[in-house]
Amino acid sequence: PLSPALTRAASLIREIPDYPEPGILFRDITPLLADAEALRVTTEALMEPFLGTFDVVAGIEARGFILAGAAAISAGVGLVPIRKAGKLPRPAASVDYALEYGTATIEMHDDLPRGTRMLLIDDVLATGGTLAAGRHLVETLGHTVAGVSVLFEIEGLGGREIVGDLHTVFHS
Ligand code: PRP
Repeated sequence: PLSPALTRAASLIREIPDYPEPGILFRDITPLLADAEALRVTTEALMEPFLGTFDVVAGIEARGFILAGAAAISAGVGLVPIRKAGKLPRPAASVDYALEYGTATIEMHDDLPRGTRMLLIDDVLATGGTLAAGRHLVETLGHTVAGVSVLFEIEGLGGREIVGDLHTVFHS
């Protein structure tokens, strides 16, 4: 069961029907981010099972950056941005994937020693395509995925099966 603070944080996730396309129920985390206590407790809950097992946090563009930045500061580790194609000047690898609403490519720099243990963080898991691609990207570069953690899992789209080991704070 969720703590009272996490239950309150969950209530701050806003549901937007038919955004960005008809039939998609968008989970808007901005009200949660705007609340100091909700931001703190969800950041801690994202990392809690993995504390001491990762060297850096890797956040996925764009909303994953926000949570990963907060987590990195809190855990005292650095942050690796996993970005959409064309945003990084020296991408070391690219992975294409299908999205619930479209397709995309993610890329990463590789400035860390081989075998660096990375905690992958994103805001929402839907089909799992993004985080599966993130895992693949990290492993392609010879690093270790210490864990995959998301704030909100949309169940019933098969995402958990695609990503493999997954920690979620909230789910649908
Ligand atoms: C959303 C969300 C996740 C991803 C989840 O990002 O932030 O990264 O989709 O979907 P999936 O599990 O089906 O792959 P989006 O691609 O919309 O990018 P944004 O964060 O830059 O808006």
